[in-house]
Amino acid sequence: MKTVNIAIDGPAGAGKSTIARSVASELGYIYVDTGALYRTIALYMNENGMSETADIINALDKCEVGLKYIDGQQRVFLGDRDVSEDIRKPEISMGASKVSAIPEVREHLFNVQKKMAEENDVIMDGRDIGTVVLPDADVKIFLTASAEERANRRYKELALKPDCPSYDEILKDIIERDYNDMNRPIAPLKQADDAVLVDSTTLSLEQVVETIKKIILDKTGVK
Ligand code: DC
Repeated sequence: MKTVNIAIDGPAGAGKSTIARSVASELGYIYVDTGALYRTIALYMNENGMSETADIINALDKCEVGLKYIDGQQRVFLGDRDVSEDIRKPEISMGASKVSAIPEVREHLFNVQKKMAEENDVIMDGRDIGTVVLPDADVKIFLTASAEERANRRYKELALKPDCPSYDEILKDIIERDYNDMNRPIAPLKQADDAVLVDSTTLSLEQVVETIKKIILDKTGVK
């Protein structure tokens, strides 16, 4: 039976994962966070002290990235090791943006993503889901917000944690990652021609969830 595939793309910090997780749980779909796959490669490279592109490409065969769903939550594995928390460190965010520009890395992860979408009803979020990974997705959404608003949300999220970076550092990091992700030659972040644009700058989380749920229900006819 054909599975339902929903693609949500957009820049870092637009709220894709929070919204996709919430909508997926309401609709009974599996939420696939593809950024976690790139982060896992970056973690492996970081832990093994690799920064040269050639070394990264040669190490890909040893980098067994896998997804498992435990109590409905995505967990990411590097071999047998659950790395779901380790990949969230700030240095891994920038590392993921860098390794994601390497064509061999993207190819390595392409099949993992494709297989998930062939076997399950999914809401998949990333940068190139609607343009490259699932060009025939049933629904495509491009979720964005201003860089300042994204930095502001991230700052509020991190403010309670020790070693919280300043607002200016977060904003600089967001602008740099946007630039890397939008300007790489392969599979850059961009809105697919048939994607619906949702700008969440002035919307609450609840409003964005409702907007996106309505777009999905209208397009798929699912009630
Ligand atoms: O969504 P995220 O912030 O966890 O993603 C980390 C990096 O991975 C992001 O800066 C770009 C890259 N990425 C990508 O190139 N393609 C995807 N489909 C998902 C993420």
